[in-house]
Amino acid sequence: MKVLVTGGAGYIGSHTCLTLLEAGMEPIVIDNLCNSSAESLARVEALTGGKIPFYPGDVRDEALLDRIFTEHTISCVIHFAGLKAVGESVQIPLTYYENNLGATISLCKVMSRHGVKAIIFSSSATVYSGDNEMPLKETSRTGGCTNPYGWTKYMGEQILRDTAKSDPAWSVVLLRYFNPVGAHESGRIGEHPNGIPNNLMPFITQTAVGKRDHLNVFGDDYPTPDGTGVRDYIHVLDLAKGHVAAIRYLLSHTGTEVFNLGTGQGYSVLDMVHAFQDATGITIPYEIAPRRPGDLPTCYADPAKSREVLGWQAEHSLKEMCRDSWNWQKQNPNGYEG
Ligand code: NAD
Ligand code: UD1
Repeated sequence: MKVLVTGGAGYIGSHTCLTLLEAGMEPIVIDNLCNSSAESLARVEALTGGKIPFYPGDVRDEALLDRIFTEHTISCVIHFAGLKAVGESVQIPLTYYENNLGATISLCKVMSRHGVKAIIFSSSATVYSGDNEMPLKETSRTGGCTNPYGWTKYMGEQILRDTAKSDPAWSVVLLRYFNPVGAHESGRIGEHPNGIPNNLMPFITQTAVGKRDHLNVFGDDYPTPDGTGVRDYIHVLDLAKGHVAAIRYLLSHTGTEVFNLGTGQGYSVLDMVHAFQDATGITIPYEIAPRRPGDLPTCYADPAKSREVLGWQAEHSLKEMCRDSWNWQKQNPNGYEG
């Protein structure tokens, strides 16, 4: 079964391509490499012995998409392609709206023309509004996003819901990811953010490898057990397996359904520092810094619906998340550039 994976050379996309190949499916990738390297796909091929047809290009290029749908009989699409840096989205909002919404719209138009009406969309816990009780259920309130990136996910969900409403043949699965971390256990593929990392785990691993001299802990006066922010960290391979489970659901249903992909377990920033130290034996120097604007004290999932409906749940421990993040970072201190 052929699955078109947009943004498949990226962090989550490359791990998902690997998992699809291991599940006997055939990923086909379109990616403009604006935040990734084709080397990730070469390494997935080497790890699995599989082949991934790769189309370098933009998802907004409808002629290229037409060519892909003509050359392959595609059963469904996983749509990862998008820009994802929260801070950058505040600086260049129009670029974010144009890229993230434009790609989703072009993709749906071409899919529709080719009669392929099954899509999984990479959404985010960021679509939930900040005033919800924890844990977050799929029925929790959404909206009130604090940055343009978050709005592109919120609006992307809406575009897909409306598309499914307009034509009962569509099947849409919206996956709301919590905080993906970790890497394939080989250390051959992983996450390599450009510039200074925004997210906690890449900052920790870059500190461990000596690229940063210390971690700034953004706030220690939150209403959490140790005062630092609590999040739901999930191993990227568990997330990837969630997509395989979602494909099975997608192809046997129509309409729109939304699922949280998280573990249901929250860990604080200091829990993460200590877990990383325990898993690797490396001390992470840190300093308490002011709160980061827009941050919530606590954010974690209720993953019950994914467990009950998709038959999926996260399996990797926090120790494995730390071990695998470090294994990737130390083997690839400069990402895919060697
Ligand atoms: P990533 O940047 O590693 O991967 C995204 C890929 O999309 C990149 O390879 C990039 O080159 C490509 N891309 C971007 N715009 C494109 C376009 N117009 N045409 C073709 N390719 C394009 O990011 P990721 O962490 O793998 O995230 C994948 C998806 O999951 C994104 O949509 C992201 O917003 C979403 N998401 C990520 C997280 C996270 O913490 N990593 C959390 C929630 C949701
Ligand atoms: C961030 C994004 C969110 C996105 C999510 C997953 C913001 C405001 N939100 O959320 O939109 O969906 O990533 O990609 O950027 N921390 C530190 N020091 C650091 C980095 C982070 O203390 O150097 C803390 C944060 O304050 C937070 C926790 O670590 O409490 C996790 O941060 P991060 O990895 O950025 O994820 P989110 O805040 O969940």
